[in-house]
Amino acid sequence: MRLVATSDIHIDKNGPDVLALLAGRIAELTPDVLVVAGDVATSPTVILQTFLSLRAVAPRVLYVAGNHDVWGHPTLLAEGQHAWWRLDHLLPALCAEAGVDNLDAGPLELDGIGFVGTLGWYDLSTKDEGLGAPDAAYATGEYAGMKWMDHVYAVFPGADGQPLPCASVAAVLRGRLAAQLASVTASRIVGVTHMVPFAEQLQQKDHPGWRFCQAFIGHRGLGEVLRSDPRVELAIAGHTHRRSDLRIGGLRALCTPLGYRREWNVSDAAAVAAAVTLVEL
Ligand SMILES: [Fe+2]
Ligand SMILES: [Fe+2]
Repeated sequence: MRLVATSDIHIDKNGPDVLALLAGRIAELTPDVLVVAGDVATSPTVILQTFLSLRAVAPRVLYVAGNHDVWGHPTLLAEGQHAWWRLDHLLPALCAEAGVDNLDAGPLELDGIGFVGTLGWYDLSTKDEGLGAPDAAYATGEYAGMKWMDHVYAVFPGADGQPLPCASVAAVLRGRLAAQLASVTASRIVGVTHMVPFAEQLQQKDHPGWRFCQAFIGHRGLGEVLRSDPRVELAIAGHTHRRSDLRIGGLRALCTPLGYRREWNVSDAAAVAAAVTLVEL
């Protein structure tokens, strides 16, 4: 199987010309399966247009949501358009319309390989303990001049209608991933998460605001779920815009994001080529 992976293509920020480059590069690699590990866009229209463009160059497109894909303006919360609604209703509908396989909605098996996946969520397990930021900062997402915008736009209400703390969201989505693994019968499995499952994949920088945001990048429990099943041979993640390709225990941990145009200092074509990785399974 020729699997091509990418993530964090942020088409509403990067623009349609980058999408055209991306589709062209993917087409060159003639994938059997394209895996998109989240952060496509926030606008549903752009998400759908992107899905259609990617489906035109790959016979199967497997997708998990990114945090940006479940963002909604706070004015929409009163209408019930919160992050659960985006994850469990809007994005599955867009996937169905475009012929994309939505791994958040359930696993699938292709040519004897099982695919499981989830947006996942951070639970502060990748917090930089040496920073000394107060607990209140992690609750508000504000510290050292940094404002983590999920706290405004990615609201997951609990049964009482109040926003759930991030660790509660993370536990629900980790449980969904574990349930998917338990239901798959294939002997080989690819796991896809938007959130970073392994601390080794994190990007280290010295700025206090950056160190603060490390808490909102990863969830070690996702990695524990993936590593608990020896059938998982490949784990594809997004969210961090740092590329990495590591061996962790018995599996290959791949992170192949595009990121924002302002983050790359090469041509658009070179950035796109670096963010699209072919894996032969
Ligand atoms: Fe991203
Ligand atoms: Fe993200």
